[in-house]
Amino acid sequence: MSDSYAVVGNPVEHSRSPAIHVMFAAQTGQQLTYERLLAPLDGFEATLRAFAAAGGKGCNVTVPFKFDAFALAAVRTERARLGGAVNTLRFDADGWTGDNTDGAGLVNDIQRNAGRTLAGLQVLLVGAGGAAAGVLGSLIAAAPARITVVNRTVDKAQALVAGHAHLGVPLHAATLADAPAEQDILINATSTSLAGAASPVDARVLARGALALDMMYGPKAQGFLDWAAAHGAEPRDGLGMLVEQAAEAFFFWRGVRPETAPVLKTMRSELGEAL
Ligand code: ATR
Repeated sequence: MSDSYAVVGNPVEHSRSPAIHVMFAAQTGQQLTYERLLAPLDGFEATLRAFAAAGGKGCNVTVPFKFDAFALAAVRTERARLGGAVNTLRFDADGWTGDNTDGAGLVNDIQRNAGRTLAGLQVLLVGAGGAAAGVLGSLIAAAPARITVVNRTVDKAQALVAGHAHLGVPLHAATLADAPAEQDILINATSTSLAGAASPVDARVLARGALALDMMYGPKAQGFLDWAAAHGAEPRDGLGMLVEQAAEAFFFWRGVRPETAPVLKTMRSELGEAL
């Protein structure tokens, strides 16, 4: 019998995770099924318990349940603890283990797919909500020269920086208006793209040839990508991060690392976007 996995969220119907994991399974010869599970806003735990009782082996967790998943995990990986959120659960016999693969997904996309080694670079992380918190620890682990976290509500940027200050990379917090100029890597982890806004920061933050990445993908990311290209940066959407975080989750569950490049290529062509 196949092992079963799911992505749990609300909403969840647009999740691309099933397509990605089905491709990983076919590529690695793993026997598994992967479905979407819509959990009521007040019924995340009950949905998970029913799925696990029916034989589910683990799940991905998406909005708005990453903090609930963190609370439900009996054991948490270090990177999940740092971000305070869990996007991947494994239902082990002796309890649920929670991981967060978003940061590793982002870093792997930047370094392997976009070909930018983060070590020594100036990184600007825009946003201080759940998406930003989930990736900061992994960005630090890639040893950039400095990371500045800017946010509309600066207190949240300061709190995020304070929680990671012991990790050895110089970190700074600032308002959006005080974002430093000439950054090598810009990461938009705000939800401003959802409203079709171009960029929450001024183009002076971009060093010549900078990489400008929005965690969104599809039409939602287009305003930001156009803005980045118009200002001489290399635009990148969040599709690569999505595929890479899924690969990390697949490895966490199955102990097998799938190849991401062919899957990212297929996802791109399905989205009807340029490579
Ligand atoms: P997520 O889990 O996607 O990170 P979130 O925790 O609600 O969602 O965080 C949303 C992020 O987008 C925050 O950094 C938020 O800034 P505030 O902390 O000041 O709210 C940012 N954001 C949302 N709308 C924004 C806007 N119109 N301009 C600038 N930043 C915005």
